[in-house]
Amino acid sequence: MKSFLDDLIIELDKGIKSSFSNVQEHQRNYPAESTQEVELNEFEKNHSAGLMRVNHSGEVCAQALYLGQSLTAEFKETRDQMKQAAEEEMDHLAWCNRRLDELGDSPSVLNPFWYFMSFSIGALTGLAGDKWSLGFVEETEKQVVSHLDSHLDKVSDKDIKTKTVIRKMREDEDSHAKQAKESGASELPDEVKTGMSWIARVMTSTSYYI
Ligand SMILES: [Fe+2]
Ligand SMILES: [Fe+2]
Repeated sequence: MKSFLDDLIIELDKGIKSSFSNVQEHQRNYPAESTQEVELNEFEKNHSAGLMRVNHSGEVCAQALYLGQSLTAEFKETRDQMKQAAEEEMDHLAWCNRRLDELGDSPSVLNPFWYFMSFSIGALTGLAGDKWSLGFVEETEKQVVSHLDSHLDKVSDKDIKTKTVIRKMREDEDSHAKQAKESGASELPDEVKTGMSWIARVMTSTSYYI
């Protein structure tokens, strides 16, 4: 029988691979497959790449968070739901990698650090009980949706490809938040929500550049 330690090693191994390697396998089609690439100027291209690097780091965190939670969740249904969500986030991760490649740029060098931080937060919130870890998911996904909304405003209107990818991710994140609520998420205290948005601010403002 597999022990907790075996599970931990397997999940950390997945994390190291998804943080360091340019994962491009996805189960669902790349949303911008048939969208025409338009010539962007240097500023527009760099800005889109910076924002997609932030989104990519966000997806690394989402992977880690869900897998950390699935490791310590109380009920099997919650564990399965977290693993399923992590697989959908893997599509997002691959789409972000692909868009970064298309823009001639690369993911953040800080990703391994984000991964281990989010994995630990995920495992700890899992220990707090399923209603709290679902509450954490709901709040995380809501914050991601508002980040993606701001990115849709910031990306140049010429860059329809990037916008198409972001719009599809936004749709998925919104449904992840709704699923968590329907599964019995508890509303987090305001202090925790504020703490989460501070961590997100540090991540977004560094991953944009490096
Ligand atoms: Fe995602
Ligand atoms: Fe999500």
